Amino acid sequence: MNKRGDRGGQLAESHAEGRVSTTGTGSGRSSGDGTAVFAQDLFNGIAESYDTWAQVLTFFQYLRWRRFLVSQMTLRPQNLVLDVCTGTAGVALEIAGRHDGRIVGLDITHSMLAAGLSAIERRGLDGRIQLVQGRAERLPFPDETFDTVVFTYLLRYVQEPDATIRELSRVLKPGGELLSLEFGVPEKTWIQLLWRIYNKVVMPVMTVPVSRGWHRVGCFLGPSIWSFGQRCPVDRIAAMWRENGIPLVETKRLFEGIAIVMWGTKQI
Ligand SMILES: C[S@@+](CC[C@H](N)C(=O)[O-])C[C@H]1O[C@@H](n2cnc3c(N)ncnc32)[C@H](O)[C@@H]1O
Repeated sequence: MNKRGDRGGQLAESHAEGRVSTTGTGSGRSSGDGTAVFAQDLFNGIAESYDTWAQVLTFFQYLRWRRFLVSQMTLRPQNLVLDVCTGTAGVALEIAGRHDGRIVGLDITHSMLAAGLSAIERRGLDGRIQLVQGRAERLPFPDETFDTVVFTYLLRYVQEPDATIRELSRVLKPGGELLSLEFGVPEKTWIQLLWRIYNKVVMPVMTVPVSRGWHRVGCFLGPSIWSFGQRCPVDRIAAMWRENGIPLVETKRLFEGIAIVMWGTKQI
């Protein structure tokens, strides 16, 4: 795509609306991409209660991980931040609490964004946080638009992690920061054993009385994290970041490696 090319204009329009905007870049179900349809189905089933159960199922670590992620950002006045996989806008709201610039939250699942929009409006932040429905693989923004790009729990849901990182880096300004948060597999043997029992047995069982949607998540999450860790270990992901313009990648494993935060600066 050309620099400042044909995906431009959407951002200004979206800010003016102050509502969830649909970008027309494959956010719907007609793209034929199974992973996108799967992610939308999965998250549509849990959007209403997402924030509560995400906290419970992670032993109340979820918000702490999010806060650590945001604490690693170098946010300057007037910076423009893109929060990819914003979901119910938790990361965007956390950023807004520390930063006076504008934030754009993008997600593929409309009901997650609708829950996010309610939270934003409740806090009177709809003038500063704009939500856009779209796909991380085809971001509806011109090259080098954002000072900071952050993505959370994304790469397990895309077919080509490498191409998706390239797309995230494309919309980042030179000298801007890329940050991510993802689940990981603990390295210590006995903690990994507990982690496997929790994911294979405890979570599928304890989510049964919650809802069908959460039971589906409870059965899906462990195998998804495990297979992604086999396919794309942290070193491989860091190499993808380097290949896409982020030469120095820092990594922090939280809660014995159950969550992994990565960050780095795009070369000028
Ligand atoms: C686990 S939630 C994370 C929500 C939020 N960032 C948080 O920390 O609470 C993952 C989100 O990724 C979104 N998602 C999955 N695949 C996506 C894609 N290809 N493009 C954009 N969003 C995607 C889902 O709709 C879901 O809202």
